[in-house]
Amino acid sequence: MPIYLDHAATTPLRPEALEAMLPFLGATFGNPSSGHAWGRAARTALDEAHERLAAALGGTAREIVITSGGTEANNLALKGAAWVGRARGNRIVTSAVEHHAVGHSLAHLAKFGFEIAEVGVDRTGRVDPDDVAAVVDERTIVVAVMLANNEVGTVEPIREIAERLPRRRSIHLHVDAVSAAPYLDVDVGQLGADTVALGAHKFEGPKGTGALWIRRGTPLLAQAHGGGQERHRRAGTENVAGAVGMAVAYELACAEKPATRARLEGFRTRLAAACTAVEGVEITGHPSARLPGLLSLLCRGADGTAVTVALDLDGIAASTGSACASGDPQASHVLLAMGYGPDEAASALRLSLGRTTTAAEVDEAARVVPRVIGALRDGAVALAADPRTAGLPG
Ligand SMILES: Cc1ncc(COP(=O)(O)O)c(C=O)c1O
Repeated sequence: MPIYLDHAATTPLRPEALEAMLPFLGATFGNPSSGHAWGRAARTALDEAHERLAAALGGTAREIVITSGGTEANNLALKGAAWVGRARGNRIVTSAVEHHAVGHSLAHLAKFGFEIAEVGVDRTGRVDPDDVAAVVDERTIVVAVMLANNEVGTVEPIREIAERLPRRRSIHLHVDAVSAAPYLDVDVGQLGADTVALGAHKFEGPKGTGALWIRRGTPLLAQAHGGGQERHRRAGTENVAGAVGMAVAYELACAEKPATRARLEGFRTRLAAACTAVEGVEITGHPSARLPGLLSLLCRGADGTAVTVALDLDGIAASTGSACASGDPQASHVLLAMGYGPDEAASALRLSLGRTTTAAEVDEAARVVPRVIGALRDGAVALAADPRTAGLPG
């Protein structure tokens, strides 16, 4: 059986979410803005999805905007907060390790006169809250730092960053929680953020669905204009099935988080021990402040892409963890920011476990992955006629 170890890229849709979605892909197809019975049924489901998602996050239904995913949630927060704050200043502070949904949104804003100040990270990928405080000035209107990094799994000290922001000035703190939300407790009351982005497909919800939590009273300019949906913060007929599936998936993920974390920690420890037994293999990211099931490795002397191709031939889905995975040959900006060289970054391998990963899969991966890395390091891979029985040493 093939083994899926790329849960940081996406997760399967969980059956409970699919089941909850099905009526809204069928008979209950109404437009939530319609006043008739079909519309009212859809409206009830949509309102309930807002409520359930908000409750799981520690917020209120009115603070939730359903989006087309984590990317749109990040775009809405950053552009919406930047433009609304433009009269007060033009400086936006961010970290050097953000996902492109944040980094590229800010690069876009820079074309319109916003100044982007990037704060570096240490060797483990951690942002120092004092570094953020040091670059925040009187022109700063937005600070954007992710809760957990999607490539190396490092968890950022958001609470401490929030506490160091000057209280008198209303600086908008945006947190990309897309990769953190499936595994870490996200309590918007505790975090200190003004906006928090989520993406459903990372926690076994549907793809193409996400949410932005917006603290009550936070000014934000809508980025999609048309109808008055989502309290005028995001125009467009709502994805009712997506919202319903997301709420169910997130509620279940939250209930299971402590058990999921404990299980994945154990699995990751086993896999890490097996992989680091290969000479030249090193774990990247923070040793303790990290996502439980994400194992990010450097396979020195081997090419990360070649390792993922060889693993794929052996039935294991993994990723390099960098932009290379999406056809962009550039070295990972995350690993470069952490102080690794381009050659080291090119040897990156990300194994990401998920709630559905089994002990048997981890055992098999612990057998195969070190063998494949070792073989590629030694240049010993021979492609057999049938690639599935490629001549990798036993
Ligand atoms: C940290 C982070 N932010 C944003 C995104 C984008 O989310 P989506 O795929 O839902 O657009 C991802 C997805 O990989 C991510 O890992």
